[in-house]
Amino acid sequence: MTQPRHFLDIWRLDAPTLRAILDDAKARKAARAGRGQAEVDADAPAKGKTLAMIFQKNSTRTRFSFDAGIRQLGGASIIATASDMQLGRGEPIEDTARVLSRMVDAVMIRANHHEDVERFAQYSSVPVINGLTDKSHPCQIMADLQTFEEHRGLVAGRTIAWVGDGNNVCASFIHAATLLGFKLNIACPAVYHPDLVDLARAAEQGAKVEMTDDPRAAVEGADCVVTDTWVSMGDVDHDERLATLEPYQVDEALMALAAKDAVFLHCLPAHRGEEVTDAVMDGPQSLVWDEAENRIHAQKAIMAWCFGRLG
Ligand code: CP
Ligand code: NVA
Repeated sequence: MTQPRHFLDIWRLDAPTLRAILDDAKARKAARAGRGQAEVDADAPAKGKTLAMIFQKNSTRTRFSFDAGIRQLGGASIIATASDMQLGRGEPIEDTARVLSRMVDAVMIRANHHEDVERFAQYSSVPVINGLTDKSHPCQIMADLQTFEEHRGLVAGRTIAWVGDGNNVCASFIHAATLLGFKLNIACPAVYHPDLVDLARAAEQGAKVEMTDDPRAAVEGADCVVTDTWVSMGDVDHDERLATLEPYQVDEALMALAAKDAVFLHCLPAHRGEEVTDAVMDGPQSLVWDEAENRIHAQKAIMAWCFGRLG
């Protein structure tokens, strides 16, 4: 049996696939100019297909962008929170995967534990998409890279500075750095460093990833500055995180050290006054609203790829 095209993590894909997805996202976005949000794309690559979505954690962008996105591709959606499902009462994830595979054409999961998404995919005969786990957020990074490229051209050879918690979103940037050829400077306190397996894989693959605990050093001359919440869903050490990460706030003084035309990204939701100031969020370098919108375009391209309509 041919393996379904899962979109679990960026490091599992290859550079031509990522490029094809990014280019398709841009083309689909351009083709929608002037069209209603509920109109279906001309090629309708998901016609006759259903996407199931399972959420173990809260979501605004991921939920709405996937739901609107599958409709724009000509397909339908079914959304459930895990606690409403038998999963919430202990039905094994493997059995859930086998059952849903008989009813839908693809499954997007936002899960507490990354291993659960991997296990689901192992037992699913339809494509599985990672909609965020404790370890990574690959769909987000595709939208982020699309946003950067729309405003500043190809990301290859450019420098992205990650400032703050070395979390799941940071991990997907590490995964993408190798394949898309950008330099990634990561500034985080030692206690909140990125996953060592991700760093080791990136080093093995020759990625240009540099670690520092000094946000100023990371941002200096960068083309893009990115941050995220200091307390992710599932984190329990709220007060310690806020205290330790305080020197990592992205404010105008920090942005001034980046390249003159540097852009600011944040996956949202933002905690204004914590990881980022109002002045940066609402300032001229901020692309956060385009970034949020691009979730829909990037994920439509991801779904088109999963359905074998691309690459
Ligand atoms: N950035 C992001 O994934 O947002 P949601 O948690 O609202 O889906
Ligand atoms: N790092 C954040 C991202 C939210 C979209 C979290 O996992 O909660």
